Amino acid sequence: MPRHYLHISDHTPESFQGLLDLALKLKAELRSGGNAPVLKGKILGMVFQKPSLRTRVSFDVAMRQLGGDALYLSPAEIGLGGRESVADVARVLSRYVSGIMARTFSHQHILDLAQYASVPVINGLSDYNHPCQGLADLLTVLEHKGRVKGLRIVYVGDGFNVATSLWHGCALLGANFVIASPRGYELGAKAVEIGQAPAAATGATIERLNDPRAAVAGADVIYTDTWTSMGQEAEAAIRRQAFDGFQVNAGLMALAKPDAIVLHCLPAHRNEEITDEVMDGPQSVVFDQAENRLHAQKAVLASLMA
Ligand code: CP
Ligand code: NVA
Repeated sequence: MPRHYLHISDHTPESFQGLLDLALKLKAELRSGGNAPVLKGKILGMVFQKPSLRTRVSFDVAMRQLGGDALYLSPAEIGLGGRESVADVARVLSRYVSGIMARTFSHQHILDLAQYASVPVINGLSDYNHPCQGLADLLTVLEHKGRVKGLRIVYVGDGFNVATSLWHGCALLGANFVIASPRGYELGAKAVEIGQAPAAATGATIERLNDPRAAVAGADVIYTDTWTSMGQEAEAAIRRQAFDGFQVNAGLMALAKPDAIVLHCLPAHRNEEITDEVMDGPQSVVFDQAENRLHAQKAVLASLMA
């Protein structure tokens, strides 16, 4: 098991499956009376350079349910790399807390925190990836479909952080990952490449398309995310135009398998990337998925900090 949780691609299929199994176990344990306090006396420092609902609350609740506690450090307080170097923030926080969770713009800041911290670092989203989301996503697929291997998992939208981690998880678990993005917004070559080695071992595949209708044909899972991620707000209008035709709506859903499930990492921009009808419809599992952030992260916390 890696010392930090920075990228899904740092895992082997076995260690990643181990996190999924532990998440399922901790979820069942919570439901049958509460979690054992395996993180008693441990405190997680949570460094945020961007807003959050799910990540902030689920990590805080996860720490408390495992017997520990968490500290929220807002963008204004730390100013990673501004008020103080990232290396010094990592060194100082390591003297106070048992683990650091960070949400940053630059992925290099996540890497620097991990390099200079003497405690485990967890990536709570960067401009490259979102590995906590990817773990919860595949936990949700596993619960609703009974397996991940061999499924056609289709991501419709921006080839950005959420897509990176979903692909890397699919690569480890042997799924057929399909991503449809407008030209200019495709998943980057580096992220694609990093998944190729595990994919060759597990039988996973990747297809990159520009046509969402071709992508969702025969899909078991349809996934979308915002067209304008945090930090890209100035591009919102231009992106709305570029992503025209990439909305997950009833017309697109009709092309997928009838029992396809719909995922969205949230926050959703209703009636932009996904319609109310789909998000609130019978195939949507987005709130199960949001809940699973809690269970998935407990597996990460317990495996790194207990
Ligand atoms: N999905 C997700 O990470 O949500 P937040 O930005 O609210 O944490
Ligand atoms: N791609 C989105 C994900 C939010 C959880 C963003 O980076 O804003």
